[in-house]
Amino acid sequence: MAEFNIALIKGDGIGPEIVNGAVTVLDAVAKKFNHTFSYTDVLMGGCAIDATGVPLPQETIDICKKSDSVLLGAVGGPKWDSQPPANRPEKGLLGIRKALGLYSNLRPSILKPQLKAASPLKDEKLENGLDIMVVRELTGGIYFGKRERAEDGSWASDEERYSVEEVKRIGKIAFETAMLRNKKLVSVDKANVLESSRLWRKTITEMSAEYPEVTLTYMYVDNAAMQLAINPAQFDVIVTSNIFGDILSDLSSAIAGSIGMLPSASLGASKCGMYEPIHGSAPDIAGMDIANPIATIVSAAMMLEMSFGLIEEAKAINAAVDKVLDMDYRTTDIMSDGMKKVGCKEMAQLIADNI
Ligand code: IPM
Ligand code: MG
Repeated sequence: MAEFNIALIKGDGIGPEIVNGAVTVLDAVAKKFNHTFSYTDVLMGGCAIDATGVPLPQETIDICKKSDSVLLGAVGGPKWDSQPPANRPEKGLLGIRKALGLYSNLRPSILKPQLKAASPLKDEKLENGLDIMVVRELTGGIYFGKRERAEDGSWASDEERYSVEEVKRIGKIAFETAMLRNKKLVSVDKANVLESSRLWRKTITEMSAEYPEVTLTYMYVDNAAMQLAINPAQFDVIVTSNIFGDILSDLSSAIAGSIGMLPSASLGASKCGMYEPIHGSAPDIAGMDIANPIATIVSAAMMLEMSFGLIEEAKAINAAVDKVLDMDYRTTDIMSDGMKKVGCKEMAQLIADNI
């Protein structure tokens, strides 16, 4: 029996629905395995702007820091588009990642056999399966670089900057992740153009001497995007910068069936991580009970495994997801002919019932 405190950032749009779905499943796990999960709701994103004026209140940072881990839905929406740049919901997300020191973001894309029909790729491209881990740098690069704008509005700039230390710490995670998998690492950059990419590549190359078992190759980001579309099975682990990882992980998730399926783990130096689906807040379907809660539910499974060391419990969640898919239940985003359509709440309940 173990006890864990989880901070919940439900956020905006479909965020509350999908996080509630994950809590339903976590409660089923707690009951079955005799653990106690306690939850503290905290505000971040658009809802925090509405309630407090800022996207990331200090109280949220304090509570998250004190918790064993954070489970996040999604933030943002058109309602806050007119906010000044420094006060947008997304600033809250970037801010909490930085405040918690979560520099590494793991985004697995696995094609479940049940979801082959949902992938936009032709069957022949999926013959060899798909199991990719994108290791995205999360607290550096252009998303955190210096931003400037001309007073007269005639130009604007964003800086992409990486230090050797920043590349090394994400590189270490990537090599270690590769060691636990098929030992193939592709470092993605734009070293034919960008100075920061040349530093990235040099640093990763130097590190490779410490991991002789890992086969390291390089790809320019444009080619990597193309290769993901034409031969995704060639990839095992991809390590890349914040912006390239943001883009490529949306692509790798789509080819795995739906962005509504894919979880992520953000980690730093401590055990306390933040776990979130890689998709956004989908304001167009918010409150309609049609969102897919699976990405958030399997994010919670990653939390149990990576931050709490509850391996069996994490396996139970993933097995329950598979079972419910085997029973042909589908949310709208992964619906195909002959399947049974269910809403967000019902999908979560079915998974909880199968723990
Ligand atoms: C993601 C999202 C965020 C990011 C946005 C909302 C700031 O796209 O988690 O991939 O770019 O990191
Ligand atoms: Mg993204």
